[in-house]
Amino acid sequence: MNPKRIIIDTDPGVDDAFAFLLALASPEVQLEALTTTQGNVSLEKATRNALSVLELARANHIPVAAGSVVPLVQPLYTSADVHGASGIGNSNLPEPTTKPLGVHAVDYLIERVLAEPGELSIFPIGPLTNIAMAIRKEPKFAKAVKELVIMGGAINENGNVTPLAEFNIFVDPHAAHIVFHAGIPITLIPLDATHKCLLKPEHVDRLMKIDSPISRFIQEAVEVYFKFSYERGFTGCALHDPLTLATVIAPGLLTLKEYYVDVDHSPGVAMGKTFADIFNVTKKPANMKVAMEVRGDDFIELFVQRMETLARRITG
Ligand code: BDR
Ligand code: CA
Repeated sequence: MNPKRIIIDTDPGVDDAFAFLLALASPEVQLEALTTTQGNVSLEKATRNALSVLELARANHIPVAAGSVVPLVQPLYTSADVHGASGIGNSNLPEPTTKPLGVHAVDYLIERVLAEPGELSIFPIGPLTNIAMAIRKEPKFAKAVKELVIMGGAINENGNVTPLAEFNIFVDPHAAHIVFHAGIPITLIPLDATHKCLLKPEHVDRLMKIDSPISRFIQEAVEVYFKFSYERGFTGCALHDPLTLATVIAPGLLTLKEYYVDVDHSPGVAMGKTFADIFNVTKKPANMKVAMEVRGDDFIELFVQRMETLARRITG
């Protein structure tokens, strides 16, 4: 089977960076571009981090287009507590030798998707600002994009940025509302699944047996994220964004349910809360598939194995 052709829309971000590495290490996917957005960090830092991680992974031929600077309506909201001030923990990433494309991410997404209708899947793993803007700017976009695999939301799980809301959706709930109702085939990977995929120090120790910039990067990047995760009572750090790729590389690990899902974007305590009509009380048709369960340990094992392979490939 041909690899799935994907563009990752991202706000790197420790786990965003790990998602790029997993994509690069996985023959089932062909990573064709990164588009960046504000989120974990400012757009400027996010774009630089994206370029640097590609540099580290010897993949700087992959184009990067910089996108939204602020959410649609809400003010900028970042997360240095989770990802460190740079966005990627204490990592010493190489200086990028490439620059972002001279085109805005929204225009780049529109151009790429319309050039090959039904061919490209987009994996948004940050706030949904760029995707919502593309939907609004080009009416043909929603029909032409093959699918979205979104990391975001918390259905039956607690929020991670407010008691109710997950970070990516909370940062731009208006964008999420536009995206959820655009008629695009969506798979949602919420905290309900990602909180079961915990990378632990023993996994990092295993990777550190291979002398590679990839293992060193992973070790440096997770330090701050481990600390944050332990303070919340987790035994490791959740690989939220990499789990989107399980839909391609290990779909059998996920339990997907079709639900009508909506998001609260009113300015109250529930802003950014995603909710699923599990009993179909509204009689509205399902608008997405939602990963409600995952064999988390199996996914982590797969992630570590793929990183071991990548680390063996990239030495020095
Ligand atoms: C999401 O928020 C970000 O901090 C992570 O990169 C992930 O995309 C998890 O809630
Ligand atoms: Ca992210």
